[in-house]
Amino acid sequence: MVIWLIGLSGSGKTTLGRAVLQQWQVRAPNTVLVDGDEVRRIFRQDNSPADYTLAGRRQNAERILELCRWLDQQGINVVCSILSIFPDLREQNRQTFSDYYEVYLNPGMDVLIARDTKGLYAKALAGEMKDMVGVDLPFPEPEHPDMTIDTGKPADIAGLARDILSNAGVLR
Ligand SMILES: Nc1ncnc2c1ncn2[C@@H]1O[C@H](COP(=O)(O)OP(=O)(O)OP(=O)(O)O)[C@@H](O)[C@H]1O
Ligand SMILES: [Mg+2]
Repeated sequence: MVIWLIGLSGSGKTTLGRAVLQQWQVRAPNTVLVDGDEVRRIFRQDNSPADYTLAGRRQNAERILELCRWLDQQGINVVCSILSIFPDLREQNRQTFSDYYEVYLNPGMDVLIARDTKGLYAKALAGEMKDMVGVDLPFPEPEHPDMTIDTGKPADIAGLARDILSNAGVLR
């Protein structure tokens, strides 16, 4: 099974992804976290590191889909925390994985700009940086998420992770 956490930068994907992983692994040790930043780091070694342009993001998204397919086919559960901006690839996820649960983390743009954990929104809004999703690159909202969470306020992260796992049918 694959649980996919979608949201803009700073929406809480990595934070919630780690919490979901931790609880899921108690039930099923054959569970891994695939985080967007990690995948970029791993593949940076080769000759074609994915950049943050639309084409680079597409390349990274396709790699991640293949990686998750490969793991899923071997019976490994995957928590995937990725800024997924391609609606056709989200659709492919649903068709590809043995079981797919999509969670949209949406704190709202005002919160993301105020939070700005990596300082990227300030740079992008000042015109000092290009290719920022939600600023100059469009973010098509997920059309059919199985669950949407307003991550705009500090919350009980373990509690949210439990809700995700229980809604996805992992915890009963
Ligand atoms: N309800 C919440 N759920 C998740 N994270 C939250 C919540 N409230 C506040 N945060 C905070 O939001 C910040 C951004 O989270 P995180 O780094 O996980 O985002 P991200 O989506 O992984 O971003 P990026 O795409 O840039 O890697 C963290 O400091 C986290 O503690
Ligand atoms: Mg992250």
